Amino acid sequence: MQLNSLQVEVILGDITTLEVDVIVNAANTSLLGGGGVDGAIHRAAGSDLLQECRTLGGARTGQAKITGGYNLPAKHVIHTPGPIWRGGRSGENALLAASWRNSLHLAAENNCHSIAFPSISTGVFRFPIAEAAQIALGEIKEFAASPSALKSVIICCFSSKDQQVYQHALKAIAN
Ligand code: APR
Repeated sequence: MQLNSLQVEVILGDITTLEVDVIVNAANTSLLGGGGVDGAIHRAAGSDLLQECRTLGGARTGQAKITGGYNLPAKHVIHTPGPIWRGGRSGENALLAASWRNSLHLAAENNCHSIAFPSISTGVFRFPIAEAAQIALGEIKEFAASPSALKSVIICCFSSKDQQVYQHALKAIAN
C-alpha cells in the first residue's frame, strides 16, 4: 500500500533473509543479544555484530541505535529495545511508539531507502499484538506525512496470525 511516497507492505517470513538497507532488531537494553528475533539476527550476522554492539553502551527502551549488517543480506541493523508489557499503565504505548518512530528516523538519517521491522515487543515482552500493530502503523503513517530517504517499509511477520493482525491495521490507516 502507498502512503504518500512510502510503500508499506506486510509479509510473512524470516527477517534475517531480507535484502533491504536495514532490518530492525527487537533487542533488549543491553544490546548484547538474546532469544527470539534478536537471537536469529545475531546468529545470521555473526560475531562481528556482537563486537560492534559491545561498543554501543546499551540503549534505553524506545531508543534506536544502528550497526553494520555483517553476514546478513541487509546492510545495517537498527537495534531498539521495545517495552515489556506490564499491563498498559507504565507508559508502554508511548515507548513502543518511540521504538518505531526512532527507528524510522534513524534509518532515514542514514540514507536507507528500505527498512524491515519485526513485530516489536509482541513475543517475549508480551505486548498485546492488536494494540502493537495499531501503534506501529500510526507511527508509519505519521512518518509518511513528510518526505524522506525511506521509500519502502516492510513489516516482516513470523506467523500468518500476526500477518493478518498487521494487514488489518494497515488497511485501517488507509481509510
Ligand atoms: N524473523 C521475523 N520475526 C521473528 C523472527 C525472525 N527470524 N524470530 C522471531 N520473530 C518474531 C516473534 O515471533 C515475535 O512476533 O519477532 C517478534 C518479536 O518477538 P521477540 O523476538 O520475542 O521480541 P520481543 O517480544 O520484543 O522481546 C525482546 O526477547 O529475544 C529477547 O533479547 C530479546 O530481551 C529481548 C526480548
